Amino acid sequence: MTQKHQVILDCDTGTDDAVAIMLAALHPKVDLVGVTTVFGNAPLSATTINTLSVLDLIGRPEIPVHAGISRPLVRKAMPSERFFKTDSVADPHGTYLDIPRTSREPASTKAVDYLIETYRSATQPITLMPVGPLTNIAAAVALEPRFAEWVPQLIIMGGGHEVPNMTASAEFNIWADPDAAASVFEAGFRNVLLVPLDATHKALVTDKQCAALGALGTPAGKATETFVTRRINSYEAMQKMDIPNSAPVHDALCVAALVEPDIVTTKRCHVAVETAGALTLGRTVVDTHQRSRLEPNADVALDANADRFVAMLLEVFGQR
Ligand code: BDR
Ligand code: CA
Repeated sequence: MTQKHQVILDCDTGTDDAVAIMLAALHPKVDLVGVTTVFGNAPLSATTINTLSVLDLIGRPEIPVHAGISRPLVRKAMPSERFFKTDSVADPHGTYLDIPRTSREPASTKAVDYLIETYRSATQPITLMPVGPLTNIAAAVALEPRFAEWVPQLIIMGGGHEVPNMTASAEFNIWADPDAAASVFEAGFRNVLLVPLDATHKALVTDKQCAALGALGTPAGKATETFVTRRINSYEAMQKMDIPNSAPVHDALCVAALVEPDIVTTKRCHVAVETAGALTLGRTVVDTHQRSRLEPNADVALDANADRFVAMLLEVFGQR
């Protein structure tokens, strides 16, 4: 058997991160080495609990979880608050996932130390996959100047060229800590795949596909139905997608693209992040037409194959 893809996920675990964790933990061609957490979809304490709970649910509690940074690197807080609304009285902002809550604690080593030490001593390539604000990654770069050189592949969910979601200019993960994101794109990582909203909004999962995932009867299939249904309901209420009753599952597309790179269509571009400007704060400036004359620093996914993405979810979550 060919060697598995080793990966560390850096997550702000809400619903789509949860599907990414399950896909990475259960895919036969992936070895999920560890998970680090960051603030984002919810406060750090909740994203960490959600991460541990997901691993409990699918029977992978041995995968280490390291808690990371709880606020943006330079700013005191995100540019503005992010609130979700749910009809749950106990959890009105939808902070926690609808699965049994863990009683476990994260590992004692903090995320940034774990990342630096793991890459310092790695004997095999480990892909680093940040799918939340880039705060932990920027901190690792700041603390250890060789960090970017040690990481063989960086797959980031974030940004949008034509598609924003947080403001008219920006996508959430980049907007939440634009200074961190800017420093990551400037850090000299040699092999960067950026999976922005342009691609994730092409890989929509419909309510019928959700039901098929649930019908698999496995913990991962049933949880994915629950999580993606929650996503579809909120997209239906706030931001209709091209396909009715569907939603993107952003972070999981990164895992799919690791295993099957041609599931996304990419263009090599220079990417920079706007850290000022009331209207454009957090915008990923993707130089699709080489106007900056700057050396490209990322492969940017601008399209994705939804059928293959859903087929992968069904196949992997059907197994256990
Ligand atoms: C990204 O922001 C987070 O809320 C999601 O988990 C995803 O990583 C989408 O903009
Ligand atoms: Ca995320």
